[in-house]
Order: sequence, then C-alpha cells, then structure tokens
Amino acid sequence: MTDRLYNFEVKALGDTTGRRQAFAKFRQSMLGIGDIGRVNADAEASYLEGGSPIGGFVDGELQGVVNGYPSSVSLPGGGRVSHLAVTHVGVSPTHARRGIARKLLSEQLRQAQAQGFVVAGLRASDARIYGRYGYGIASWSVRQDVDLVNGGRLPFERRPDIRQVDALESFPLFRWIAEKAPTPRAATLERWDAWWAIQTFRTSQAATPHHAVVIGAEGSERGYLRYHVQPSENWFTSSQRTVVVDDVVAHDDDAWRGLMGYILAQDIVHRVVLASRPVDDVLPLVVDNPRAIQVTDLRDESWIRPLDLEAFLNGRTFGRDARIVFKVADPIISTNTGTWIVSGEGATRSQETPELELSLQALTELAFGAQSASSLAASGRIKGNRHIVDRLDEAFGGCGLKPHSGISF
Ligand SMILES: CC(C)(COP(=O)(O)OP(=O)(O)OC[C@H]1O[C@@H](n2cnc3c(N)ncnc32)[C@H](O)[C@@H]1OP(=O)(O)O)[C@@H](O)C(=O)NCCC(=O)NCCS
Repeated sequence: MTDRLYNFEVKALGDTTGRRQAFAKFRQSMLGIGDIGRVNADAEASYLEGGSPIGGFVDGELQGVVNGYPSSVSLPGGGRVSHLAVTHVGVSPTHARRGIARKLLSEQLRQAQAQGFVVAGLRASDARIYGRYGYGIASWSVRQDVDLVNGGRLPFERRPDIRQVDALESFPLFRWIAEKAPTPRAATLERWDAWWAIQTFRTSQAATPHHAVVIGAEGSERGYLRYHVQPSENWFTSSQRTVVVDDVVAHDDDAWRGLMGYILAQDIVHRVVLASRPVDDVLPLVVDNPRAIQVTDLRDESWIRPLDLEAFLNGRTFGRDARIVFKVADPIISTNTGTWIVSGEGATRSQETPELELSLQALTELAFGAQSASSLAASGRIKGNRHIVDRLDEAFGGCGLKPHSGISF
C-alpha cells in the first residue's frame, strides 16, 4: 500500500528483527519504556514473540508502528470472543500528526477482521486518541487507598487455606489459576504468553520486594494476590509503610474475601494501594470503616472495537422480551454497517426501519454493560425517546457486575 502524498508504505514486521525494530520505534515515541533487550535479550524475545507488528515507512524509513497479540475477552454472561490486544502504537516524534497512526490503526483493524478476530482492544495513553477509530470504553477502573490504621480491615478470620508462595517462581501457578477462573467479569482478558513474560521480567528486575499468596488447597487453588512494597526512605521506622497490589484473581466471593482479608491484616503495613479495581468493587462494604477507603482516579480501562458485529453481539445474551432495531455506520469495516435487530433470540441483520442510530462506541459500551442506555441518553450520546431508551435497557441491561479487566498491556 503506497500513499502518493509522501511515499508511505505499510509492511508487516513479523520476523524477529522486525519485531525488535517495531518495539524500538514504540519506545522512541513513548519515552518512558525501558529497553528490555539491553537487560535481557531472551526476555525481550519472549515478550515480542506472538505479536504481529505492522510498520509505516516514509521514504523507506520506519516512522510508525502498531502491534497486536491474540487473546480473548469475556462478555456479560461469561461468553468469550476473540480479541486482538492492540499495543505498541507509536509514531516518530519527527513525523507526528501527519496521519501515520490513522493509516496504521485502520489497516490493523481491517487485517484483524480479515483474520477472524471478533474485537480489537487496547489501553490508551490518552483518552482522546482512539474514539475516532470506533473504540469505545468497555470498562472503567478506580484506585483504592486503604488506611489500615483507621479501620481498613476485614473482620479477623484465620484462614488455613491461604499460603505464601514465591512471587517470581510461582508464575506458572498464577497462570494456571487465572486460566481456571470460572465466571470472570465482562472485559476480563485471557492473558497471553507475552503478557506473562513481561510480568515475570518486571518482577525479576524489581527494585523492591515482591510477594504473593494463593488461596485454596494445593492443586485446587481458587485465587492469588501479587503485591509489592512501595519504596520508602526507611521501611523500619516509616509510619507510612505501603504495599501496592499488582494483580488479584479470585474464582469466587469467598476467595476474594480471603485474599483481601489477608492483605489488609498485615500488622507491618499502614496503607494498601489497589491501583485498578472495578467501579462497583464491594471493598467499602466489607471493611470495619468504609471511610478508611479513598476511591480516586476514575479511569477509562478497556477500549474495545467490534470487528465482526454479529459475532460480537451474539457473544452475550439479551433480555428475553427485548426487541430493538437500530442502525450502525462503520467507516472502517463496512460489513458492520447496516440495520440490526437485537431480541431475546440474539442479534441479526434486519430489513426493518431502524428506531434509532447507535455509534459503534455506544453499542460497545452497552454490550459490555459499561453504561446503561439511560446514562448514554442523559449524556446525549444516544438520541431516542424514553420508550426507546427503556427498551434498549431492557435488551442490554441486567449485566450484573460492572465490567473490569484489572490488567494493562
Ligand atoms: C498517539 C500517536 C501514535 C498518534 O500518531 P500520529 O501519527 O501523530 O496520529 P495521526 O496524525 O494519525 O492523527 C490522527 C488523529 O488523532 C489525533 N491525535 C493524534 N495524537 C493525539 C493525541 N496524543 N491526543 C489527541 N489526539 C491525537 C490527531 O489530531 C488526528 O486527529 P483528526 O482525526 O481530527 O485529524 C503519536 O502521537 C505517538 O506516538 N505518541 C506517543 C506514544 C503514544 O502515546 N502511543 C499511544 C500508546 S496507547
């Protein structure tokens, strides 16, 4: 593909050298990402393995990249659809704002759709970049700061089913536990090899100690919690000893309460930071003093973009008595454009007159349960009368817990 405007070419960078080149370009654009390869070439190779970078060349020089790893994402009700985890999006600072990212991101979406991915998803360095490509905010997160000194603890319970494990050596066990989670929240991602590789690398290189516990008898663990110590001038005498939770996976509510009870019961610690939790997390409902938890930092978490609208919508179920006909326009993937009907039977194309138009973003947010139709209508992002908005809520509502993934990539 060549753009006559400024001799622009798009090429796959699928071999080892290409992947390293693409990652270097991304690091150059991002400034704050370390050179893993310089520390450990094998770690970098494992991290880049499985990715499919695409490069944008101007006059034969690589000036922009996008990458993606195959995974899957859960929808309300526990169904999963294939998900291209888009990452390493970067353009040379010397070539920014000339349309390179737009070309690469659009091309990546078309290729992913042709390869059969149902959605693409990413984490954004800035919340203003990706809406224009049809990505919607499928989940939000908040940060919790728990003050253990002032009642941020659970009622004491001795749990013989919790045991400490080595935070670095136990990655195979963590992975096994994460993959067995029976009913993950919507927006939970299947974690791919490279994701585990980079967690392992970061843990191995960490400047402060990392720790981990698992819950459940050996061989039938039901959750784990990984955490690290926040750097402190003098850990021994500090009155602000803080630990940061890196990752928590719990198969059920009891496992979650057990792991939270454990981390919030540490006498040596004054404060626990949970950097990414669901917006409807129940921690404030279970600690001694709900005011001991400060909830801040509301963040867009998962940005998701349907590629195959029919497969995406049919990855979840709808209200039994639902029936709503809407139209969608997709300027990048034309097969999504058209009129659709959603009912208790599922989602399919329709010849009927649409009752309203939905943007891809609004549809994604509804389908993940990130927003209700009523909230979208209140914000002006859905235009329809009360009756139509109520019927949309009937169709897409009843999602239970809010979507949340808990991981970045
Ligand atoms: C973000 C980045 C990839 C955009 O690349 P780019 O080639 O400059 O983007 P384009 O020229 O194709 O811009 C496409 C549109 O996005 C907008 N845009 C680009 N970067 C933006 C930013 N950081 N914030 C808001 N809007 C942005 C442009 O204004 C343009 O808008 P338009 O459609 O209204 O014309 C590039 O600036 C970059 O490498 N940034 C640093 C690394 C980074 O943040 N990567 C993203 C990681 S998730």
